Amino acid sequence: MRIVKTIAEAQSACARLRREGRILGLVPTMGALHEGHLSLVRAARAASDVVVVSIFVNPTQFGPNEDFSKYPRTFETDCAMLEREGVDLIFAPTVDEMYPAGASTFVVVEGVSDRLDGASRPGHFRGVTTVVSKLFHIIEAHKAFFGQKDAAQVAVLRKMVRDLNFPLKMVVCPIVREGDGLALSSRNRYLSETEREQALVLHRALKAVETAVASGEKSAQRLVEIACAVFAEEPSVRVDYISVVDPDTLEDVPDVTGGALVAVAAFVGATRLIDNILL
Ligand code: PAJ
Repeated sequence: MRIVKTIAEAQSACARLRREGRILGLVPTMGALHEGHLSLVRAARAASDVVVVSIFVNPTQFGPNEDFSKYPRTFETDCAMLEREGVDLIFAPTVDEMYPAGASTFVVVEGVSDRLDGASRPGHFRGVTTVVSKLFHIIEAHKAFFGQKDAAQVAVLRKMVRDLNFPLKMVVCPIVREGDGLALSSRNRYLSETEREQALVLHRALKAVETAVASGEKSAQRLVEIACAVFAEEPSVRVDYISVVDPDTLEDVPDVTGGALVAVAAFVGATRLIDNILL
């Protein structure tokens, strides 16, 4: 497994592999890896000849009062985990390497970037689309792997790939959860033992929605009420949004007849967690 820190090294290594006719799979991450990330690595391993994982805590996708500086950085452990998964190349640039002084070009997917997490975290998706565009250009992978955990990110990136004709296939992998249902997240390590218990309310609310849909409920408004009622049982958790939306446009839908994404975000203490189900 090779670890490269500069764009030039990553570009030349990937260009050579592509010339040799190998299929490159890219897994973009911010590190602090867990089984959710590893599920993407395994999907990439199964569907590509060469697996490239990027590890970069991207400052442009964090708001001024968000957790950029305290985001967990566990580079050595991450590398050991990726080595065990048979990853070929890790691209781990510094902030200055990715954003040299004076860089002022951003990629913005209008509309969809302002919904769900984009509404609560202004500028967040502009940071995501900018860094992911850069990674797509540097690695020029044939396939890129993302998690359904970040459903809004998937919608925004799918649109970017379409709108800007990136010659790459996006593969979206299912949410990996703990045994009790909590979706794995690098931010779960911020939770105290009590908060860890309280955080289960996100999954419980989504399960209640799923059950209601299974027994015939179709109204988005009614489903939101059902989820809110579950959150009301855990008043220490502050809901950011509960939305029933079209999974591509992230626009509200009146009912779930044509399929829908039910997405939630909530603050457990100071930690903002997200989860969702696709109906
Ligand atoms: P990060 O939060 O590190 O997540 C990297 C990838 O892992 C994302 O595609 C995310 O959806 C996926 N992932 C996280 N938790 C998961 C889980 N429990 N099950 C399945 N997949 C999961 O998302 C980002 O980084 C950044 O925004 C990035 C795309 C790297 C751009 O900076």
